[in-house]
Amino acid sequence: MSEAAATGLKLPPKVSGEKPGVGHMEAFSVNFARFLMDCEAECGELAEYNMAGQQTVLMSGPEAQEAFLKGLDKKLSRAAAYQATVPVFGEGVIFDAPPERMKTQLKIQVDALRYQNMKNYAAIIAKEVDDWVAQWGDEGEMDFLDEFIQLTLHTACHCLLGADFRYKMTDEFKRLYHDLEKGLQAIAFVDPYLQQPVFEARDKARRRLQELISGIIAERRANADKAYGDALETFMSGTYADGSHLTDNEITGLVIATMFAGHHTSSGTAAWTAVELARQPEYTAEVLAELQALFGDGQELTFESLREVPKLEAFIEEVLRLHPPLVLLMRRVIEDIDYKGTLIEAGKTVAISTYGSHRNPVYFPDPERFDAHREKADTKEKMWAYIPFGGGPHKCAGNAFALMQLKSIFAALLPKYEFFLVDAPDSYVDDLSAMVLKPSSPCRLRYRRRR
Ligand code: HEM
Repeated sequence: MSEAAATGLKLPPKVSGEKPGVGHMEAFSVNFARFLMDCEAECGELAEYNMAGQQTVLMSGPEAQEAFLKGLDKKLSRAAAYQATVPVFGEGVIFDAPPERMKTQLKIQVDALRYQNMKNYAAIIAKEVDDWVAQWGDEGEMDFLDEFIQLTLHTACHCLLGADFRYKMTDEFKRLYHDLEKGLQAIAFVDPYLQQPVFEARDKARRRLQELISGIIAERRANADKAYGDALETFMSGTYADGSHLTDNEITGLVIATMFAGHHTSSGTAAWTAVELARQPEYTAEVLAELQALFGDGQELTFESLREVPKLEAFIEEVLRLHPPLVLLMRRVIEDIDYKGTLIEAGKTVAISTYGSHRNPVYFPDPERFDAHREKADTKEKMWAYIPFGGGPHKCAGNAFALMQLKSIFAALLPKYEFFLVDAPDSYVDDLSAMVLKPSSPCRLRYRRRR
């Protein structure tokens, strides 16, 4: 008798079309966001698919998504689902740290991203945007995805590691970061320790980055009185319960983990925001009027002044609904779960899709239409249906930072420049070829200085 029959529980319905050996891998690889929507359409709230042997249960709808996101770490493990990150973040860091140490590391990471440093970050981002725009002419054409990848790398280096690092070492950092990123390709989720040139390059880059960061740490320890107001300062001052500080390896790991969580999520959203501003003139006019009323008299863009921009916020929220950068969130089941009479067995993976959830017509009528006037998430169901930043105990630690950065960029750009699509409006589509969603390339826009 099967375990499910013995417990009187059902098993999750299986998605059709499984192929020997690979399961649903091919359909998933074509367009995983669409594949996940088809799984829900076929099977409903729970849908089991097969990723080359790894049984995965997609949980859909606000109730199931709430259960997933609030899932106790005891039953659902992120660490087991994200082991590919271990050689990148480093041994003993986050998903490789014992639970109590991991909890403290995540708390220190949240501290660095939320409270004490936010005003400094707003000033840094405003300066980086000004320096970038200073190179523009009165009009021109650029690939805005490429531009935002550069800009957000600069803001991230500056906010995480300070001005010295940003201006002296960004070029070397870019190369190292690139090698680390390549170390997180699909094969790493099968075995991140295979003998492969990409993994050798990843390990070399990880060692070199730690050397660079250790150099700054040593310099700062020698100048202990100086204040920096960046994330590195918070990482260096954080302590474990026994009073000991994070090691250089752990600090380097937190820097990398923060970059990975924040960089492409921000650059993709910024690029999509620029495209939608060019594509949605009615809403753009409202956002512009709001910004001109607030900042028209030359008022500085600060953390405080950026708090009250509801039209711009609603616009960005709609961008994040249609184009959520993290489409698929995953956990490994480490203890059997009884979800409303269905058994989800230990060893399986569970997943939710932000992309599918944001297109549920019950909560978002006419879901494919860009509508910056949608009602806010005012009910519990809607709250768990709109999840670009996840939710529960592991909700995005950088959401306040991300929103502040996006508001800061567009509050600086929009009153100065108009944006136009270069290509046909429908040719700007979601690119799902990597784990983080972004606009398809080239993402060309034309800009013209406002008169
Ligand atoms: C538009 C931009 C962003 C989006 C849509 C986004 C989305 C998310 C989501 C959905 C999660 C939850 C993942 C899960 O539950 O498995 C997450 C986690 C996280 N994000 Fe973001 N993120 C963004 C920007 C940032 C930025 C800029 C940073 C840092 C500077 C950041 C740092 C983090 C961290 C550290 C976590 C892990 C939190 C934890 O494990 O407790 N994110 N993000």
